[in-house]
Amino acid sequence: MASGMSVAVQGFALGAAMFTFSESKLIGDLAARGSLQAKDAADRNGYDYFQTLGLLRFFVTQGLFAEETGETFRLTPKGTAAMSPTSLAAISFYIGGYGHLMTQSRSLLEKKITYGKEVTRDSYHVAAGSKLNTASFMDMVPLAVLARKGARKVADLGCGAGQFLIEWVKGGADRSGVGVDLAPEAIEAARKSAQAQGVGDRLKFHVGDAFDNLALTKTLSEVDVIFSFAMEHEGLRDGEIAVLSHIDSLAEHFPGKRYLLGEPMLHMSAADGMFYWIHVLSLQGIPRDVSGWCSLLGKLKKAKLNEVFIPDHRQWCAYFDIELPSK
Ligand SMILES: C[S@@+](CC[C@H](N)C(=O)[O-])C[C@H]1O[C@@H](n2cnc3c(N)ncnc32)[C@H](O)[C@@H]1O
Repeated sequence: MASGMSVAVQGFALGAAMFTFSESKLIGDLAARGSLQAKDAADRNGYDYFQTLGLLRFFVTQGLFAEETGETFRLTPKGTAAMSPTSLAAISFYIGGYGHLMTQSRSLLEKKITYGKEVTRDSYHVAAGSKLNTASFMDMVPLAVLARKGARKVADLGCGAGQFLIEWVKGGADRSGVGVDLAPEAIEAARKSAQAQGVGDRLKFHVGDAFDNLALTKTLSEVDVIFSFAMEHEGLRDGEIAVLSHIDSLAEHFPGKRYLLGEPMLHMSAADGMFYWIHVLSLQGIPRDVSGWCSLLGKLKKAKLNEVFIPDHRQWCAYFDIELPSK
């Protein structure tokens, strides 16, 4: 098909199969043993043998596994790349976080179900996926900017699974941080992850609404810099004014501090992939590009956009250093 629809449909099935595999015990078995024997793997995990064999053979047809004698399967180089942490993170984020919205989009369109009532995205998979997929910790830029500003204690609004703060405190024994997220699943994952990575004593995480500056007075007055990544655009759901008032209210309540606002960029082109559509399905505000953010942030009344950082290697992210002037 010249339209590319055939590739798209195959990609949908492969993404769903990869999600199944990555959420199953088969992925751990594979890591532990180096290969999977279909019958053993099915019996060990209580899985259906026919489905297990079929899933592995589907991956063979897609070039991810090679089948050896005795129904034993081993990853190919392409399969090894497909199982990389960044690839699995994209699968967790898009398929685990938003896949069920895609299959229900007709009901959303026909107003038979409403986002936020009968259906929501899966917050755990959004947090777990964005930790590697969109997360700024993959990117040295915000960490370098915070260090340059002399920050020690940082608040992360919409911290997801907390990896940005974890990376931040790993960079210096005098660093600490506090993460806030609306999703309890994300906060639980952040706490566990901080403990597991040995920095739980310098990080606090709590459930809260990042747009509620009053409720966050104590939390935010104790930090040097307020940071967020891929959270602020959610406020655009309620219009530009909601984002402008949130940031101006930060200036009102926390004068003399800085807000380092990180956002993934949306270009409204084919390269965005499904990044645009998931925001529509989940009734989020729609992200924008650097000039879109600059023109929005130029309308701030109390806070002031100071500098913009665009990483060379990841031009789909940008960081906006916003001054919250002293009164
Ligand atoms: C795309 S994820 C980014 C997570 C994290 N910053 C990262 O880069 O890995 C957006 C996060 O913002 C959180 N979020 C959205 N609206 C929020 C709000 N009003 N208050 C707090 N967190 C919010 C979501 O629960 C989600 O974890």
